[in-house]
Amino acid sequence: MLVVWLFSLLSTAYALDNGLALTPPMGWLTWERFRCITDCKKYPNECISEDLIKRTADLMVSDGYLDAGYEYLGIDDCWLEKTRGEDGRMVPDKNRFPSGMKALSDYIHGKGLKFGMYEDYGNKTCAGYPGVLGNEKIDIDTFVEWEIDYLKLDGCYIDPKAMDEGYPNFGKLLNATGRPILYSCSWPAYQEDKSMRPNYGSIAEHCNLWRNWDDIEDSWASLTKIMNWFGDNQDRMASHAGPGHWNDPDMLLIGNFGLSVDQARVQMAVWAVLAAPLLMSVDLATIRPEFKEILLNKDIIAVNQDELGKQGLRVWQKKDYGLRSKLEVWKRELHDGSFAMAFVSQREDGIPYAASFTNEEMQLPKQTFEVHDLYKEEPVRSWSGSEGFEVRINPSGVKFYKFIPKKTVEIADITVKLLVNNQVNN
Ligand SMILES: *[C@@H]1O[C@H](CO)[C@@H](O)[C@H](O)[C@H]1NC(C)=O
Ligand SMILES: *[C@@H]1O[C@H](CO)[C@@H](O)[C@H](O)[C@H]1NC(C)=O
Repeated sequence: MLVVWLFSLLSTAYALDNGLALTPPMGWLTWERFRCITDCKKYPNECISEDLIKRTADLMVSDGYLDAGYEYLGIDDCWLEKTRGEDGRMVPDKNRFPSGMKALSDYIHGKGLKFGMYEDYGNKTCAGYPGVLGNEKIDIDTFVEWEIDYLKLDGCYIDPKAMDEGYPNFGKLLNATGRPILYSCSWPAYQEDKSMRPNYGSIAEHCNLWRNWDDIEDSWASLTKIMNWFGDNQDRMASHAGPGHWNDPDMLLIGNFGLSVDQARVQMAVWAVLAAPLLMSVDLATIRPEFKEILLNKDIIAVNQDELGKQGLRVWQKKDYGLRSKLEVWKRELHDGSFAMAFVSQREDGIPYAASFTNEEMQLPKQTFEVHDLYKEEPVRSWSGSEGFEVRINPSGVKFYKFIPKKTVEIADITVKLLVNNQVNN
């Protein structure tokens, strides 16, 4: 028994300790919106270039994203020349990054933002640019010269079996530089893809965040597929998330082409419950105000960034027909004893349907709560837990609440009553 206890103590105690990502990282990444657009003549506002990055840096500051917590600005794939320099070093595309990466890094840092970059652990990046394999040391030295703060290391063109050693080794080299660099691993995503069972204990020990599964695509179908997978596999993943190390269901689609406002609200709510990194990938110059408002929702960001760092779970689900069909309940415990509760409808038909949930279904303690709508459309209500909790959810939408226990207030009330009674009796 003692051995078992010690083992569980050790296995939960080990985690990457570089002082970074104590709450889920927040920022902006090129990939989901801008992919591998490299033709700046045809698509001057969309190509992966220093202009795009500088424009985004300016907007992250001027439009309140940095103030809201989005601090990392990252370039994903497609920033490199197709071949290394004669000295063996990575060379940024000369036409699209004419000032070089150190100058871009200085620009980003000058704005108060942090600089993220992308490479791949294999021979090539997923889009076919030079990968780090065989050049790990020189590439890390180069990244340190460019003063990057975040590295997403992808896993194309490498055997997933080699990742159990490869990713930790690369992490040790990063650590040895002495520069704190947030380490984003794609290690489990490639293993899950091959039906291997990733060692999440080891992953949490070596990475600040890790992509668990498929790339997200800009559609409701892709979003719900990822939500379903995270719900279905939560028992073997959720406990590995915590301050310094996070599961990553991939970028926010919010503000692009594929999600309605209701669907965008679903992603923001579920990502907050999942303690997921909040990585926007959207053109901040043209984003519509209703989407911007979702990304900047302070109460929801506060749930995502809650200091307890405990990943929430899908606690209730009904897949089939009938009453409450395709509804699900997601719950996250917060540091102050309150709960964030997302009621999601995967129904795409009809009108807003009303449904009612018992506190057993919601897995909430039996007590009175003050319930706040985090999208601020409903007034605050009090719920005692003795009757069902009523929600009315738009098709492919969400109701997202914070349940704050009223316990302390009630105890104070009883105390006051007792005091009054005592005085009357005396
Ligand atoms: C990487 O490229 C080298 C040189 O072409 C080759 O020998 C090696 O097998 C490749 N490794 C992988 C994992 O594809
Ligand atoms: C390197 O690892 C040590 C031990 O885990 C940690 O204390 C330190 O902060 C790390 N440094 C960097 C730069 O990651």
